[in-house]
Amino acid sequence: MRKHFHRVVAIDGPAASGKSSVARELAEEFGFVYVNSGAIYRAITWQILKKGIAVEDNDCIASALKSAAITCCLQDNESRIIIDNVDPTDHLRDHCVNENVSRISRFPLVRQIVAQKLHELARQHDLVVEGRDIGSVVFPDTPYKFYVDASPAVRLQRRAAEGQRDEIAMRDHDDSSRSVSPLVIAPDAHVIDTSHLTIERVVEEVIARLRAMGLHVSS
Ligand code: DC
Repeated sequence: MRKHFHRVVAIDGPAASGKSSVARELAEEFGFVYVNSGAIYRAITWQILKKGIAVEDNDCIASALKSAAITCCLQDNESRIIIDNVDPTDHLRDHCVNENVSRISRFPLVRQIVAQKLHELARQHDLVVEGRDIGSVVFPDTPYKFYVDASPAVRLQRRAAEGQRDEIAMRDHDDSSRSVSPLVIAPDAHVIDTSHLTIERVVEEVIARLRAMGLHVSS
């Protein structure tokens, strides 16, 4: 782990694999800050859509991003994003965001901005970060890497149970096939299939593996 970063637990996986619930519980268990990196991509997507910028318009997106003020602040030990002084939390799961977030996440400049925000947080706090490329690209040196997965049928059921319309199959395809930082399993990640496990069981398993690696509760 690079010296200037605190400890980082990376939880990667596709949509509705259970990573948010697992990451949140882990953060609580270890007293680390919980960071949902997807929320930063979602906030940027929401902002671009709100400005009426076409999602194919690379130049317009680039100039909007260069002038955007994006801040990650902490609330109840969770990172919260503020973009141009607005808290977009209530809009992050809007259907238009679900539909366009993978496309916006492909832009190298967007990925660079998000990675920079995550690095800033890791310079100040121990983190549990969930996402798609956290163990493979953003924090490749952390020894604490997990990849959680579940069958497509189970993941669809989970989203439906949350009452959400989410194009999981389309996002999976886009997130896995993009050329920049695609969703991949880092070679040194612990892989856990959550299809037939409760969240509690997955959390127990991850905690046991982290403790075996010497990770302990922060003081
Ligand atoms: O975790 P989520 O489903 O809320 O993420 C929304 C989108 O953000 C996801 O479809 C792809 C993008 N994302 C990404 O490209 N890299 C990450 N580390 C996290 C999310």
